[in-house]
Amino acid sequence: MSLWSLLSTLILGRGSALLLLVYLFRLSVRLWHKTQLWDLQHCSTDLTGKTAVVTGANSGIGKVVSQELACRGARVILACRNRKHGQRALAEIQAACKDACLLLWDVDMSSMASIRSFARQLLRECPEIHLLVNNAAVCGMCLGMLPPSTF
Ligand SMILES: NC(=O)c1ccc[n+]([C@@H]2O[C@H](COP(=O)([O-])OP(=O)(O)OC[C@H]3O[C@@H](n4cnc5c(N)ncnc54)[C@H](OP(=O)(O)O)[C@@H]3O)[C@@H](O)[C@H]2O)c1
Repeated sequence: MSLWSLLSTLILGRGSALLLLVYLFRLSVRLWHKTQLWDLQHCSTDLTGKTAVVTGANSGIGKVVSQELACRGARVILACRNRKHGQRALAEIQAACKDACLLLWDVDMSSMASIRSFARQLLRECPEIHLLVNNAAVCGMCLGMLPPSTF
């Protein structure tokens, strides 16, 4: 073997080994990162004895949040403006989470009268509220877009 071919074998060999090392390093970093990603199912927080209020709980984010809280043991007050939709959501959450403790209360967040009546009921029946998920409706609407009876 000539000196030249010996040298090129050594250099190429080291180069390949280096590439392999870099590849393995990147692979292990990626795997480590994957194991560090937060997953809702890994959350083992126990909410037994806690009371949660979720507005707009009959669909979308509000419903998913209500279900997750109920599955972790919280008593969840589903605050909805439409009783029929609320009852359907309650049944679905109860089916997904057998031991769920759910209450369906009426509130229309676009009406101050309805909000006040809901708040009075809360004060009367719930000495402690541990979680409030203020999810329903939109904020930042100009007053002209709200019904006249609102305030
Ligand atoms: N989804 C997104 O990507 C996103 C992004 C940023 C912010 N948000 C905000 O997150 C919240 C929930 O979003 P979402 O996508 O889950 O919305 P969604 O599926 O439309 O659900 C909204 C819920 O709020 C209820 N609601 C609306 N107006 C109400 C009122 N005046 N009184 C009582 N309940 C009322 C609805 O009840 P009904 O069924 O009776 O209509 C429904 O249950 C909203 O505030 C939204 O602005 C969402």
